[in-house]
Amino acid sequence: HFNKNYSQNLKGKTVLITAGPTYEAIDPVRYIGNHSSGKMGFSLAEEAAKRGAKVILVSGPSSQKTSNPEIALHRVTSAKEMFDEVFKHYENVDIAIASAAVADYAPKEVASEKIKKNDDTLVIELVKNPDILKTMGERKHRQFLVGFALETQNEEENAKGKLEKKNLDMIVLNSLRDEGAGFKNDTNKIHIITMHENREFALKSKDDVAKDIMNFIEEKTLK
Ligand code: CTP
Ligand code: CA
Repeated sequence: HFNKNYSQNLKGKTVLITAGPTYEAIDPVRYIGNHSSGKMGFSLAEEAAKRGAKVILVSGPSSQKTSNPEIALHRVTSAKEMFDEVFKHYENVDIAIASAAVADYAPKEVASEKIKKNDDTLVIELVKNPDILKTMGERKHRQFLVGFALETQNEEENAKGKLEKKNLDMIVLNSLRDEGAGFKNDTNKIHIITMHENREFALKSKDDVAKDIMNFIEEKTLK
């Protein structure tokens, strides 16, 4: 098994990946966002492309770039735009990986003019965004579906809950307990959880984490 050459194992397969944060507009110059860099999603896209897959990468605002001709990059801004772009492609993909840090809520109304500074407090009403991954789970027929979870408490239990609730085949749990893991860093410490197993990996670069994740996906899908 050690010397197994994974290089072109995904030839003929199409992989859909979501990446980065989403920005939810408040007014023409402001938004609600998060610190996701998009690095994990872009690393996954490069790794899948290296193994021969055709990759569709739907990314929120991120400074990451790719020049790989096997990666079709679709840049979006908000969760709603990400939702619409994802479901243009989802029907025909073999593997879907949701690594985006999608904003859970968006302002109910977007002010058409820049909001002026007036009172001492300002209330912005937020409404829940569509859950892209949960919808992928509901519409799943042939796809191998992979989610991510970032938890700060009851990590493994919560991740397993998301696996079930969103009808996923596997979930990648980002452990924030360890120094150097997560959002802003170039390293990650993960667990991969399925209905039957829970595999723990060492702290490593996001490029190497992408290799572990793609190896695991190949192990489960190629047989
Ligand atoms: N996700 C998504 N669309 C959303 C919210 C989340 O596709 N509107 C996806 C993420 O890309 C990730 C997974 O769902 O793969 C889990 O995201 P997470 O934020 O951990 O879970 P939530 O379901 O949003 O629950 P909570 O934030 O309350 O923990
Ligand atoms: Ca969330």
